[in-house]
Order: sequence, then structure tokens, then C-alpha cells
Amino acid sequence: MQSTRRPEPPNSPSSLAGPSSLAGPSSLSGRPTHALHVGLRTNASGPALPPRAAADIPVIAHRGASEDVPEHTLAAYESALLQGADGLECDVRLTADMHLVCVHDRRVNRTSNGRGVVSTLELAQLRQLDFGSWKQPAPGAEGPGAAYVEYPDLRREGAHRVLTLERLLELVVDHPRRVELAIETKHPTRYAGLVEEHLVALLDRFGLAHPRLGERSPVRVMSFSALSVRRIRRLAPSLETVLLLDRVPLRFRDGSLPRGVRIAGPGIHILRTHPEYVERLHSLGNRVHVWTVDQASDIDLCVELGVDAIISNRPKAVLARLGRDGARVSAGSQPAVTGLNPDKP
Ligand code: G3P
Ligand code: CA
Repeated sequence: MQSTRRPEPPNSPSSLAGPSSLAGPSSLSGRPTHALHVGLRTNASGPALPPRAAADIPVIAHRGASEDVPEHTLAAYESALLQGADGLECDVRLTADMHLVCVHDRRVNRTSNGRGVVSTLELAQLRQLDFGSWKQPAPGAEGPGAAYVEYPDLRREGAHRVLTLERLLELVVDHPRRVELAIETKHPTRYAGLVEEHLVALLDRFGLAHPRLGERSPVRVMSFSALSVRRIRRLAPSLETVLLLDRVPLRFRDGSLPRGVRIAGPGIHILRTHPEYVERLHSLGNRVHVWTVDQASDIDLCVELGVDAIISNRPKAVLARLGRDGARVSAGSQPAVTGLNPDKP
């Protein structure tokens, strides 16, 4: 894992253009921003950050290596690590019996052979479901399915059952190299603030919730909900947080973020139309983690802008585009799939 320390060029307020160019209609559309207007105070600016060099941009596997392998399964995350991803992204929801599970949608209908709302099902019920068969690509040496050909163990019993966050954390902490984990809280949900309470308690059990001064937890928490981010800040003040943005609210168009938040998570669609937003964030010392970057032209745009993390369904393709294919894995840090934790599916 590379250091995030960088040279600190002097602040240059004169390079801050006015916010008007982010006011186009495209930046005003997107998913509902029900909670973005909570927390009116913005962060103070820190030392400006330079654009990041391509070789230093961490590649984060979105829902695992989810283009090839069914999303949010252990198989998808193991596959991402084998491909050399620097980090993993997951969405979390609370079950009816208060377990955090990695599921994107409110319902399990799309990604499993079952039906129902995650928050009304107990973990034991979710464990009955198959989260793999909805997307089993034809085996092949290239493209979707290649992962299963290369690593047949990904098909083992249990690797496509519901994934608890606890199991994903075990995968992260047991891995022989440092792996980042970007956890997204999904809102709205009937459990509201209980999500953040259970999340911080679980991270605390792993010793990941309260990094000491000068240390960085491999975990960060992201949300489109500014309220959720504020709850995390209150419960775990030293944990890094990311405000996800489907559009940039007017008050943040100068590159500022809510107080205490130092990472913006804009969708790639925002940077396509407003590439200058990256420089604005960097000018105020804020970092930029971009989702979901799968196309070659979008990867190139992220490199050109010097973003601070690329979140992709295709970590292998992004690493290759960055000139890093296999580089870190072949450095002797690649575990055998079967060695990841054979007793725990
Ligand atoms: O990494 C952020 C991204 O995952 C947000 O969108 O809908 O894929 O969770 P979504
Ligand atoms: Ca997500």
C-alpha cells in the first residue's frame, strides 16, 4: 500500500475558479439527495493536494470483481484480491436480527433466488438463498467466467451465500497485504442510525474503528446520506469518511465538503461534464474517490485528472490500463484461494 503522504504545494486561492461551471443542468440531476442538506457547516481547507500519479491511484473493486463474478459474494471479493485490487467496496444493510450483510438493493430479488426485503429477513433466512446463480457466466478463458477457470475454488460451497460484513472484514484483515475496505451505508432504511451504531461496534471488535493519531484504518465509511456520515463522525471521529455525490449541491461546488469529511465520492458522470471539480477539491485539500469507472475513456479521464481512487467493477482491466497488471500480485503477495480461509465459506 502506497503512502498517501505527498509534497504540500502552497495554497493557491487564485486557482479557485468560481462555482458557476458546476451549475449546469447535468450536475443537478441524479438520485434523490434526501439527506444532503443536513449539516450546513463545511470543512476548513487543508493544504492543497497535487493530482495523483497514475501508478499511485488505488484501484477499488466495486462489489468485488463484480463484472465477472456475482456481486457482493465472497467469490467476487476473493477474485478481486487475486487480481491485485488495492481495496474492496461493499454496501451494507441490517437484517431483521441486526446483522450487517453486504447487499446493494433493498430487496434480495435481483441478486438471489429468493424474494423479500433485507431488513425484514433474518440472517438464517438469507443464508438459505443462493446469491450466485443469477449470474453464472459461461466458462471461458477471457471475459466473464475467466475467474472461475483460473481459480476453480471460487465455485466452492458457500462462496455464493449471503456475505456478512464480519466475514468480509476477516478476509481483509487476514490478507497478507494491506487491503482497503470502503463500506457504504445504504439509506433510507427502517433502522436509521442503528446501521452506523452496529457498524462502528463491529469495526471496533476488529480494532478498526478508532485509529490513533498518525495511523490510518484500512476501513473508510461512505454514504450518499450526509446524516449517515455525520453519525459515523460522531461515533468514530478518527475514521475516514466519504460523502458520495450523484450531483454536487450548490454549497459544495467550490470543492468544500461537510465538516470533518475530507473525501468526495463523485460519480464519473460528474467528472465527464465537470472535470474541474477535481482540482477544486484538491485545492482545498480534499481527496476524490470516483465511481463506477469501467470504460477505458473514463479510466483515462481519471488518470488525467489525478484522482485519488478509482472504484470499478473491473479492477483487473483498470490495473492493466494503469500499467499495473499483476505487478503487486506477482511481488510475492498472492495467496492461494484455498489458503484464504478454507474453514469459513
Ligand atoms: O462506490 C460508490 C457507489 O457504489 C455508489 O453507487 O449504487 O453502486 O452503491 P451504488
Ligand atoms: Ca455502493
